[in-house]
Amino acid sequence: MQTKITELFNIQYPIIQGGMMWVGLAELASAVSNAGGLGLITALTQPTPEDLKKEIERCRTMTDKPFGVNLTILPAIKPPPYEEYVKVIIESGIKIVETAGRSPEPFMPAFKEAGVKVIHKCTSVRHAIKAEKVGCDAVSVDGFECAGHPGEDDVTNLVLLPAAFKKLSIPMVASGGIGTGTQMAAAMALGAEGINMGTRFVATQEAPVHENMKQAMVDADETQTTLMFRTLKNTARVFKNDIATQVTEIEARPGETDFSELQPLVAGVRGRERCIEAGDINDGIWTAGMVIGVINDIPTCEELISRMVSEAKETLQQRLATFTD
Ligand SMILES: Cc1cc2nc3c(=O)[nH]c(=O)nc-3n(C[C@H](O)[C@H](O)[C@H](O)COP(=O)(O)O)c2cc1C
Repeated sequence: MQTKITELFNIQYPIIQGGMMWVGLAELASAVSNAGGLGLITALTQPTPEDLKKEIERCRTMTDKPFGVNLTILPAIKPPPYEEYVKVIIESGIKIVETAGRSPEPFMPAFKEAGVKVIHKCTSVRHAIKAEKVGCDAVSVDGFECAGHPGEDDVTNLVLLPAAFKKLSIPMVASGGIGTGTQMAAAMALGAEGINMGTRFVATQEAPVHENMKQAMVDADETQTTLMFRTLKNTARVFKNDIATQVTEIEARPGETDFSELQPLVAGVRGRERCIEAGDINDGIWTAGMVIGVINDIPTCEELISRMVSEAKETLQQRLATFTD
């Protein structure tokens, strides 16, 4: 399956595993890359730039295929040392970076000089256009269905993808809500040269999360995510559990939301320790997208990718072809 994305990143299939806090470790990134997709290590999951360097080295012992690093640039009271993470990425010889959160513009000269290909993940047409303007090689367009931060425009991929495609010259990857080959074929019909998945890769054998989380996704339907932080204009789509419901109830009260009240509920470390590690899926916040409604098993990355590619081809060549007779 050759597309502009397989050519750009020198991969077999146009399937990318998006950056995922606490989940994007070498185990998952290497499994995706070994299966012919593009695995990404999540930079900020590593507590220091030095730890990221070690994680990249560890991933190299697990695959000889191309893999990349996700750099999520978010507003923070005490921001991580982004320049140092960028330095480590470049010095480690990484040639593919997924940026997200904010425009990668400040880091583009360094990436370009080092021959790093940058794919920027964004949730609106205007941000995709900006990414092209600042020199990104490709964009991932993340629709309202997606896990994590869908932005504040609430435009789903059925509209967002063709709207972005019309305005872009660089290749576009569809992200958000995808977990099957038929969805992959649909995204490609709308202009995408590949797909990016988060949630679907969390429900795989190699994902470093507790089995209870994987099983909860298999058991859930498409209505079991919720949007929190709407009142803070920093919307996040997460699994709808007891804690997420408490958060949205606090946010629904009249008046301004006091973040200090939410803090103990939403702390990243609580989600990691209670849900991802201990498997108590109701005792913290964990990120998931609407695609949980079409997740019915926990395959290996290899099984998932090869199944999706055959299903996508079959959809394009057989099912859709019958409509053109
Ligand atoms: C557990 C989890 C953690 C995530 N963390 C990040 C992150 O740190 N940075 C980022 O850019 N995207 C993050 N995402 C978003 C994914 O990279 C991807 O854009 C999104 O999951 C696509 O939507 P989907 O889940 O419907 O496939 C995360 C997603 C999940 C499921």
